[in-house]
Amino acid sequence: MVENETGRAVLVTGAARGIGWAIAKRFAAAGDRVAILDRVPATAAADLVAGLEGGGHVVVEADLLDSEALPAAVDSAAGQLGGLDVLVNNAGVFTAHPITEVGYAVWQEQWRTTLGVNLIGAANVTWCAVRHLKERGGRIVNVTSRGAFRGEPDVPAYGASKAGLNSLTQSLALALAPYRISVSAVAPGFVATDMTTEHLKPPSGDAIRAQSPFGRVAEPAEIAAGVFYLASAQAEWASGTILDLNGASYLR
Ligand SMILES: NC(=O)c1ccc[n+]([C@@H]2O[C@H](COP(=O)([O-])OP(=O)(O)OC[C@H]3O[C@@H](n4cnc5c(N)ncnc54)[C@H](O)[C@@H]3O)[C@@H](O)[C@H]2O)c1
Repeated sequence: MVENETGRAVLVTGAARGIGWAIAKRFAAAGDRVAILDRVPATAAADLVAGLEGGGHVVVEADLLDSEALPAAVDSAAGQLGGLDVLVNNAGVFTAHPITEVGYAVWQEQWRTTLGVNLIGAANVTWCAVRHLKERGGRIVNVTSRGAFRGEPDVPAYGASKAGLNSLTQSLALALAPYRISVSAVAPGFVATDMTTEHLKPPSGDAIRAQSPFGRVAEPAEIAAGVFYLASAQAEWASGTILDLNGASYLR
């Protein structure tokens, strides 16, 4: 139950590394039980669980593109955690496909995969999770992106997927309030993770850091802090919000 600030059951997608891993660590440090849903093989599960504070954490191996596998994966997570209180839709992919530079086959594949993971995958996990969340109320927090607002000229399917996820956030905030489920999003700018390692190397990295007047990009823990707040009991009234976490690099 979200009234409890500890001991909640939290499902985080894409939490084997990066921002998702920081989110998993943030909840675990607060005394919550975390299920990591990711493509990682079972052999990696023990190491991930061992890296989290507290106990009761689990890893569920699933591919968000495999819609048929998701109901069992989410049910497995909820079964092992003892229900669900919080879902964080964090998993995402980001692969360049500039419209004037890629062939039609690559273009189609990038749109299929990017929307498939970032938007449809999140929508499907959410459908599966709501069956559990509506039993006692809860929180859904989606990890979208600054790119949904600013545009992604080299990664247009990514920008569209995150704009779609923002829209899904707002629609479900309305649909699920009667079930005491609040739905919100964080929209980060650049964050230092494996996803962005190449981009953040000089010289492109220098230009990216200069986008913020702070002259840097975010650390994953800064995004996790925002997600943790939006999942808190005090954040029910933040339902429907999209929290910009971009170091004033893009103001809207
Ligand atoms: N890093 C950034 O600059 C940045 C900025 C804005 C938003 N985001 C968003 O934050 C989220 C996390 O990004 P990150 O930087 O930690 O990325 P990352 O690539 O480091 O980690 C992504 C995780 O998602 C998992 N994943 C990817 N596809 C999957 C699939 N089909 N099924 C299951 N799991 C899958 C990966 O295995 C990985 O563990 C993403 O949604 C991303 O779009 C990142």
